[in-house]
Amino acid sequence: MFKNLLDWIEYRIPMMRVANMHAIQYPAPKNMNFWYVFGFLATIVLVNQIVTGIWLTMNYVPTAEGAFASVEYIMREVDYGWTLRYMHSTGASAFFVVVYMHMFRGMIYGSYQKPRELLWLFGMFIYLALMAEAFMGYVLPWGQMSYWGAQVIVSLFGAIPVIGPDLVIWLQGDYVISGATLNRFFALHVIALPLVIVILVFLHIVALHEVGSNNPDGIDVKKPKGTLSDDEKSDFEIHEYYTNRYDYTKDVIPFFPHIVLKDLVAFCIFLAAFSYVMFFNPEMGGYFLEKPNFEIANPLKTPEHIFPVWYFTPFYAILKAVPDKLFGVILMFAAIVMLALLPWIDRGKVRSWRYRCGLHKYNLLVFAVVFIFLGYLGGTPQENWKIVASQIATVMYFGFFGLLWLYSKNEKTKPLPTRVTK
Ligand code: HEM
Repeated sequence: MFKNLLDWIEYRIPMMRVANMHAIQYPAPKNMNFWYVFGFLATIVLVNQIVTGIWLTMNYVPTAEGAFASVEYIMREVDYGWTLRYMHSTGASAFFVVVYMHMFRGMIYGSYQKPRELLWLFGMFIYLALMAEAFMGYVLPWGQMSYWGAQVIVSLFGAIPVIGPDLVIWLQGDYVISGATLNRFFALHVIALPLVIVILVFLHIVALHEVGSNNPDGIDVKKPKGTLSDDEKSDFEIHEYYTNRYDYTKDVIPFFPHIVLKDLVAFCIFLAAFSYVMFFNPEMGGYFLEKPNFEIANPLKTPEHIFPVWYFTPFYAILKAVPDKLFGVILMFAAIVMLALLPWIDRGKVRSWRYRCGLHKYNLLVFAVVFIFLGYLGGTPQENWKIVASQIATVMYFGFFGLLWLYSKNEKTKPLPTRVTK
């Protein structure tokens, strides 16, 4: 009877066909390592944010008068309200942890290179939407940092010549950050941006499955049809959607159960870390939930130090490194645009850092250290030495892209293996 029901559904909507095509029989490179779990983890966190967000919305009041008290009400009175809130606030930081790892993976294995440029661009749009989503979510509890953080970020638009001041009023919906601003941020945070993110993630996966996954060796695991001998061809069942166009080498394995099991191991480890933070350390020393945000927003009292949450601080440090506000804003956006342009800045023919020149490995590692250092500079109180340090680190941040563009043209690379290694 169950089979009949499945057949009845399958005849009307391609449920199993899609599951086979995109999950069960998806040909995945068998050397996918630890770095390949973060896309799956990002998907899990996305679901967590949406589900806990829906339940938080049931008791949250999106007005300047009611917001702060409603969050306290959720924490103290609503059954398991504290669980939902900490799952959501920890989830926000976890999202950026996994997305930064996911992006760095793309950089070390050259996953942005041809033919995955559009996949990378979809990723960058997700990243932008995620930043907007996190920023607006942070305003909702209407604490001191929510208010003053919003003040700092929205005022950046005021630096734009001619239209800046009017644009700020238009964004705020008022002459100052007020209940009107909170209300529109709520609308964008709970419906508009999640919708955009979900659509972008869908397109991201469609683009990935069209070109196929890259792998730690950065070599192709599929060849044009008819170019592989029977011995070289994969003997696993692969969905005809993929084999219609290419032959797959023995380097692939079906997504289910192999990759699913790897992802489940990662999920267990992730869950342990997530639970530790959620149950024992939800503020994470002020990094995940900042201290001033336990005080209700007060437009007459500026907090001693205003910092964005940790995941924005590298860009905040770049902004503060420049004395001129407009130039600072331009440089901050340029820092993100540079990442988006990586597929065109990197002119190398070899994808993975395993087979690229020594300078490339060094360049990537220095970039990661500089990014973390910028994060430290942007997230701690301003001191004189830090201004100079942020200026040097900003030059080094952009230097990464400049150097990459220069050496990637005629780079001396190691010979690529014909089959994936470990
Ligand atoms: C909500 C955020 C995101 C989700 C849910 C997501 C999801 C995924 C998933 C499930 C995969 C396949 C599994 C894997 O390779 O890890 C993937 C691959 C990929 N993603 Fe994302 N992603 C997100 C954000 C991003 C961002 C911000 C970028 C970079 C700008 C990015 C770039 C890539 C690339 C290049 C691949 C292919 C990697 C390869 O085959 O080597 N993604 N993504």
